[in-house]
Amino acid sequence: MQKTFAMIKPDAVSAGYHHNILQELELGGFAIVSKARVQLTRARAAEFYAEHKGKHFYEKLVDFMSSGPVIALVLAKEEAITGWRTLMGPTNSVVAKEQKPDSLRGKYGTDGTYNACHGADSPASAAREIKFFFPRLILDPLPDPATAK
Ligand code: PPS
Repeated sequence: MQKTFAMIKPDAVSAGYHHNILQELELGGFAIVSKARVQLTRARAAEFYAEHKGKHFYEKLVDFMSSGPVIALVLAKEEAITGWRTLMGPTNSVVAKEQKPDSLRGKYGTDGTYNACHGADSPASAAREIKFFFPRLILDPLPDPATAK
């Protein structure tokens, strides 16, 4: 089982689409390991997206992501990282509506900014993002003290 980090963005939460998204991901075979409704401050959103600092969309993205609550999720499934990104569809919801109309971003997003959801793009990103939102979550079983060297 692989774990990934997923997030339902403020546009989808404020529209009430998080109910649909949560239902769809469970129907898609993802188990919800952790779930939290979180209001990001502007500083926390800026930190989460720091790798994009300097890009033309960065300030707008940070404003958007701190504009209302998000739902942060740890999901588990075989090949969860690519599976979740496939379920989300293309990053820009305009493209998603054309090319993958049944994807989450096709159905619940609007454009390149308001695109309903996020997903980690690699195991390293998933680990970083899970830690960012769920710092006390223990991802792997602790070693058995009786057998640990
Ligand atoms: S890049 O430059 O290829 O790394 O960017 P990309 O992977 O396409 O997108 C990274 C995240 O930035 C968001 N994004 C935007 N936000 C606001 N406005 C515009 N124009 C815009 N373009 C990209 C995009 O939704 C990605 O967010 P996450 O949360 O990672 O999906």
